[in-house]
Amino acid sequence: MKKKNAGNTGSVWHGVVALVLVFSAGLLPAAELDVIKLNPPDLKRGLPFMETLAVRASAREYAEKDLSLRDLSDLLWAADGINRPAENKSTAPSAMNAHDVQIFVFMNDGVFWYDPPRHQLVPLLAGDFRSQIMMARPPRPAPAAAPAPAAPPSPGGSSATAAPPASSVGATAPPPPPPPPSNPPVQIILISDGERFRHGTPEQKFAWGVLDAGIVSQNISLFCAATGLKTVPKASMDKARIRELLKLTDAQIVFLNHPVGYAK
Ligand SMILES: Cc1cc2nc3c(=O)[nH]c(=O)nc-3n(C[C@H](O)[C@H](O)[C@H](O)COP(=O)(O)O)c2cc1C
Repeated sequence: MKKKNAGNTGSVWHGVVALVLVFSAGLLPAAELDVIKLNPPDLKRGLPFMETLAVRASAREYAEKDLSLRDLSDLLWAADGINRPAENKSTAPSAMNAHDVQIFVFMNDGVFWYDPPRHQLVPLLAGDFRSQIMMARPPRPAPAAAPAPAAPPSPGGSSATAAPPASSVGATAPPPPPPPPSNPPVQIILISDGERFRHGTPEQKFAWGVLDAGIVSQNISLFCAATGLKTVPKASMDKARIRELLKLTDAQIVFLNHPVGYAK
């Protein structure tokens, strides 16, 4: 991703909110990286809605090509961008309009936090941490040995065809090791911050967070389907490493991740 210079188009208030969010997460802006000002959403692009649903599918292989600023901008706006600024409301609904879902974007040059009101990416960490936050794919289990075929009965009591020795029955070569996961240009992490809910028990906040993150996830999947990008919603990831890198508070729960890239 090409770095962009920080602009000053957002309101002072949004800047304060952004900084409070960043610092409340115990994060310091990465000095080497600039804020990425995202493009306004292109509201005319993508397949019609029903065609989008018809082609939505998970994909796990991605070309090793960075997302364009245009695609990154529209992807994040579709995920949870502000679509009604006067009401501070988003493309994704959230319980009590809490905006509890925080979007963190891992790219080859750093980790960024998506600031919806300013529609920009705020740098948090410099460096490529994408492979550190993914779980290694578990090896495929070996297929169960097939049972020995029964020898056909023969009138003379002996089989015309000799049965294969038991040791060779069902013997298969060990499964090939799984291919190394391709590194998608963008890894999106969806976190719900329970502190954003004005009331509720911890259990309620967890449940609202799951639902809110799921809705943002579906926005991402549908945007990708509509525009030809590839993604998969994933619950598996190294949450401990993510918590460590982002210095999350106990109230911030890591729910899902979305690798996003172009077709391989
Ligand atoms: C909540 C949730 C968690 C998922 N976690 C993973 C995961 O950890 N790894 C993975 O490869 N796919 C994961 N998936 C993707 C599903 O395997 C995939 O959606 C399912 O196989 C159906 O395929 P489709 O998305 O192409 O319709 C997850 C999907 C959902 C909705």
